[in-house]
Amino acid sequence: MTVPDLLKSKRDRRKIVVVTAYDALFARIVEQAGIDVILVGDSLGVVVQGKPNTLSVTMEQMLYHTGLVAGAVQRSLVVGDMPFMSYQASQEEALRNAGRFLQAGAHAVKLEGGAAVADRVAAMAKIGIPVIGHLGMTPQSVQQYGGYKVQGKGKDRAQPLIDDALALEAAGAVAIVLEAIPAGLAKTVSEALTIPTIGVGAGPHCDGQVLVLYDLLGLFDEFVPKFVKPYGHLKADALQALRRYKDEVEQGTFPSDSESYH
Ligand code: KIV
Repeated sequence: MTVPDLLKSKRDRRKIVVVTAYDALFARIVEQAGIDVILVGDSLGVVVQGKPNTLSVTMEQMLYHTGLVAGAVQRSLVVGDMPFMSYQASQEEALRNAGRFLQAGAHAVKLEGGAAVADRVAAMAKIGIPVIGHLGMTPQSVQQYGGYKVQGKGKDRAQPLIDDALALEAAGAVAIVLEAIPAGLAKTVSEALTIPTIGVGAGPHCDGQVLVLYDLLGLFDEFVPKFVKPYGHLKADALQALRRYKDEVEQGTFPSDSESYH
């Protein structure tokens, strides 16, 4: 998968499948499953670091995880998620930080916001850094929203989101993530753009879908939004395995002769 393939997928009406990953082990599994795009999301702040939100994630942490993922895969497109305050303060800082993601092995970066960050997107596109936008319930604005709430509800909220999407496209974004917005609005945005939309909690009409890996696998169950569908039960499997191991060690049945050297 390459950046031009994203646009081709939209033209060919082929859905783009995106999953997050944060380390080499899972990145390899994700790629083996044939997933098109791996997003090294700042969601790692919540699912890996155990924080209540993504705001404390740093550039150094993101670059470390991006390097692990990028070094482990050959075919999937790797996208590095620009953390809070790595692109907001100044255009120069945004450009330098975006460049560091590509140097760490990412093929593209993602950042949150619409018209307000269009100048950043344009500057990155101009020097050859592919950018994916992110609209709707943008987690880095959680304090402004007062929680993780559906965005773009009602006509007066929908139009600004459509305008933001058009501004990102005009600035040179190669795709836009639409998070937690009404399905009808996501359809309107997807039809209005020539670049693909990647939905997460945005209904079935987007050009692609993304889920957080640990949500999809049923590993993270502390907060499960309505839009998450667990395709596995890895937390339950892990608990069962660990309890069996504990029992066998306590009862003296592990290690047995077959796990011993002679
Ligand atoms: O950080 C992340 O994992 C994300 C996706 C949910 C889109 O931004």
